[in-house]
Amino acid sequence: MNLILLGPPGAGKGTQAKILTKKFAIPQISTGDILRSAVKEQTAMGLKAKSYMDSGALVPDDVVVGIVKDRLAQPDCANGFVLDGFPRTVAQADALKQMLAGLGKLIEHVLSIEVDKEDLLGRITGRRTCRSCGRGYHVAFDPPNVAGKCDECGGELYQRDDDREDTMRNRLAVYEEQTAPLIAYYKQESLLRSIKGVGSIEEIQRSILNIIEGCSV
Ligand code: AP5
Repeated sequence: MNLILLGPPGAGKGTQAKILTKKFAIPQISTGDILRSAVKEQTAMGLKAKSYMDSGALVPDDVVVGIVKDRLAQPDCANGFVLDGFPRTVAQADALKQMLAGLGKLIEHVLSIEVDKEDLLGRITGRRTCRSCGRGYHVAFDPPNVAGKCDECGGELYQRDDDREDTMRNRLAVYEEQTAPLIAYYKQESLLRSIKGVGSIEEIQRSILNIIEGCSV
C-alpha cells in the first residue's frame, strides 16, 4: 500500500503514519524526521537544511527529492510506504510521479487531514517529541505515562525548535502558499480523500482505515 498523508503542520500526519506503519508493517518516510536527524548529526545536508527549517521555510526541492528517491529504493519499501510530509510542492509531486514510474509503482491514496488553524496552534505548541525514537506526544491530548519520558524507549522528550508560535505561523503560511495547491493536484488525479482531523487519534485512524481498506481498528 503506497500512501501519502497530506496536511498542514500539526494535522496529525506523523501520529497517524506511525500507527499505519505498525499495522501494515510498512515504513513511514518522513522528510521532516530525516532532515532533523541530518541536522542533529551535522551532515552537509543537515547544515544546509537547518536555516530553512528554523525559519519555517521549505528546504529546497532538489534536497528533499534526493532524500525520497534514495529512501524509496530501499528494500523495506517493496510492500508499500507511508509518505509523511512529502510532497510539499507541485515540483516535488511531479518528481515523485516520475520516480515511482521508474520503480513501476503508483500512489494508491492521498489522504488530506483537515484541521482548523486554531486547533493546529494548540497541537503544535503542546507537542513534545522523543529525542531517541522520534515518537510524538502532546502535553494534554496524548501525554506520556511519565512526564518528560518516552513510553516506548524511555528517551527524553523535547520541544522542537520550529514549534515556537512565530515559526509555526510562518509554517502555516508556507503550507497555504506552497503545499495546499497539492489538494487540487491530487483531486485532479482522482487520488485525494479528505479526512476530518478533529477528534481522538483513534477516531481519525478509523476514518483512514475505512478509506484504505474498509476495515476498522
Ligand atoms: P515536518 O517535520 O514534516 O513538519 P510538519 O509538516 O510541519 O508537520 P508536523 O510534524 O509539525 O505535524 P504532523 O502533521 O506530523 O502532526 P503530529 O502527528 O506531530 O517538517 C518540518 C520542516 O522540515 C519543514 O518546516 C521544512 O523546513 C522541512 N521539510 C520537511 N519536509 C519537507 C519537504 N517535503 N520539502 C521541503 N521542506 C521540508 O501531531 C502534532 C501534535 O498534535 C502532537 O503533539 C500530537 O500528539 C497531537 N495530535 C495528533 N493527533 C491529534 C488529535 N487527533 N487530537 C489532538 N492532538 C493530536
